[in-house]
Amino acid sequence: MQTLETIIRGAGIHKRYVMGKDNYVDALQDASVEIEKGQMVAVMGPSGSGKSTLVHILGCLDSVNSGEVWLDGRRVDKLSRRDLAQLRRTEVGFIFQTFNLVPSFTALENVMLAAEYAGKSRREARELARTALAQVGLADREDHKPTELSGGQQQRVAIARALVNSPKVIFGDEPTGNLDSASSTEIVDMMHRINRDTGTTFVLVTHDPDVAATCDRVFHMLDGRVANGNGRHAEDGRAD
Ligand SMILES: Nc1ncnc2c1ncn2[C@@H]1O[C@H](COP(=O)(O)OP(=O)(O)O)[C@@H](O)[C@H]1O
Ligand SMILES: [Mg+2]
Repeated sequence: MQTLETIIRGAGIHKRYVMGKDNYVDALQDASVEIEKGQMVAVMGPSGSGKSTLVHILGCLDSVNSGEVWLDGRRVDKLSRRDLAQLRRTEVGFIFQTFNLVPSFTALENVMLAAEYAGKSRREARELARTALAQVGLADREDHKPTELSGGQQQRVAIARALVNSPKVIFGDEPTGNLDSASSTEIVDMMHRINRDTGTTFVLVTHDPDVAATCDRVFHMLDGRVANGNGRHAEDGRAD
């Protein structure tokens, strides 16, 4: 039997956004979640329930007020900004709803940038970026700028950028939210293939039940908590 190993663990996370004196939002309140290595999981929940805040925190993009965050056996919520930035560049990748590509850069340059940020030489970054673009089927679009690509192709560039440093986890914050259903299916299939081929864990925020249905597990958020964040869930057939 395959042993399941936890790659991400959030325990009792509180996150408060302070806008001013007596003006704050408790975006996460005692949120806990455990994600297993190699899985592709979905995070669903109403708007404002804390989905983006949670994935930003698990992905080392943001800090917590209290609680613990563990990434691949390492506690990350106490790390300095500098150490967090380093982890972010090498251990995780992000895909956003709006692609977030640099408009004046070609597909190749966009992907290279992430490798160079992670400390690769220009030459090495170019090699890695070429490989990543080939993995998403865009080898023949290297020199195209974002405006010369379809939405689905732009998101494939963003996936290549997320992949280029061989991260342990790729987070997607509504990665198919701006795509038509055909492109959405294509992107989801591609992420599944990468998940299978590379073992990269995927954590995808989505509103789309069809996307969630393809995932190994679905987490449901409500009012800053993960309703089913702990333990195995029954429907994946591995109930404890
Ligand atoms: N940077 C921020 N400053 C202040 N409030 C924020 C900020 N980001 C999110 N929020 C608030 O935190 C709550 C959770 O937001 P978010 O994590 O974006 O939810 P979701 O992604 O599920 O829609 C919401 O009430 C939102 O308005
Ligand atoms: Mg959101």
